[in-house]
Amino acid sequence: MHSLPKLFLAALSFTILADGSHHWYSHHYPTAAHRQLIGKTYMIQDLYQGEDFFKDVPPIYFQLVDWIFAIGPDPTGGNVIYQGQSDAQSKRLAYVDDCDNSFILAVDSTSTVAAGGQRASVRITSQKSYNGGLFIFDASYMPVGCSTWPSFWTVGPHWPMAGEIDIVEGVNNQVTNQMTLHTGTNQTCTNEITNSTHQFSGKIVATNCFSTTHADSGCSIEDTDTSSFAYGFNNAEGGVFALLWDNSAGMSIWHFARANIPADLIAQTPRPSTWGIPAGFWSSQTCDITTNFYEHQMVIDTTICGDWAGGRIYAQSGCPGTCSDMVANATNYVDAKWVINYVAVYQ
Ligand SMILES: *[C@@H]1O[C@H](CO)[C@@H](O)[C@H](O)[C@H]1NC(C)=O
Ligand SMILES: *[C@@H]1O[C@H](CO)[C@@H](O)[C@H](O)[C@H]1NC(C)=O
Ligand SMILES: *[C@@H]1O[C@H](CO)[C@@H](O)[C@H](O)[C@H]1NC(C)=O
Repeated sequence: MHSLPKLFLAALSFTILADGSHHWYSHHYPTAAHRQLIGKTYMIQDLYQGEDFFKDVPPIYFQLVDWIFAIGPDPTGGNVIYQGQSDAQSKRLAYVDDCDNSFILAVDSTSTVAAGGQRASVRITSQKSYNGGLFIFDASYMPVGCSTWPSFWTVGPHWPMAGEIDIVEGVNNQVTNQMTLHTGTNQTCTNEITNSTHQFSGKIVATNCFSTTHADSGCSIEDTDTSSFAYGFNNAEGGVFALLWDNSAGMSIWHFARANIPADLIAQTPRPSTWGIPAGFWSSQTCDITTNFYEHQMVIDTTICGDWAGGRIYAQSGCPGTCSDMVANATNYVDAKWVINYVAVYQ
């Protein structure tokens, strides 16, 4: 007959063993049930910071770190001429701030150009492409002012077939961020509200994501928080935008003002399941994610006027004169710059 203490001891050691292995196991390979309970912790895959945005730097995280500087006119009809890396650097339109290692992307704010002319600006695209993940954009300042059209977005090949995700975007005097999906297939991606998909705080602007070169508004959701864009964003010392591209659940976008960035994200162990409802959400129940979105590269740019900022909306925006006249005046672009702390992709 076993004595009680011996039985207790045996049970205890078994518990320790089982518990220990359970911890090891769950840390590396969470079960579906466990993952639902605690939420997945994403692991960093690529981190772009400071000099990483320039070419020919030593690889980190065993990846070639490289962003491509577009050269020439803007495909969206903007009054800008994009500068290659060396021109952008010599004109101080792309540089690293030695004090805090932030990366600055600016619009030329010293040259006079003709009304309706092309002002020097910068548009950079990640060399690497992605088929999902958690994309983090941390900036402390973004371009503001009449005629500007800044954006951080992702896009796949053969637009619009592989889709586009506009994470940060807006024009002129817009006060909150507008998030948009564009797709190349009709009626296979919408953000129509159903009971189970209305899990976001933003306001729907348009519901059909299908876009063509002649009708490319896409399906947008407008943030309701004025710290998500322009002067409000800059007054809050900027913040973070996070896109969670989950092929089975859908697309979620959060914005956090600097003071509200989740601690797990600061610690590089993000668990989006703990972040509360996103500002924008496009459910896989109403949008075929894998068909419409693949091989996306990240893009950061600032254009002027063009298809959106310079269209009918310019006159309605309360901005002075015409958009083409704005371009001529260099002083209008002193605040047209991004100050980027980092861009990261987690899987
Ligand atoms: C997209 O689908 C809708 C509904 O079937 C149709 O009315 C519309 O013409 C289609 N658009 C194009 C460009 O094919
Ligand atoms: C949504 O929820 C309401 C109230 O719970 C219910 O009456 C309605 O049938 C639901 N609609 C859908 C499309 O599930
Ligand atoms: C240029 O813009 C500034 C500020 O927007 C304005 O004060 C100034 O009058 C403008 N100059 C010209 C020549 O239009």
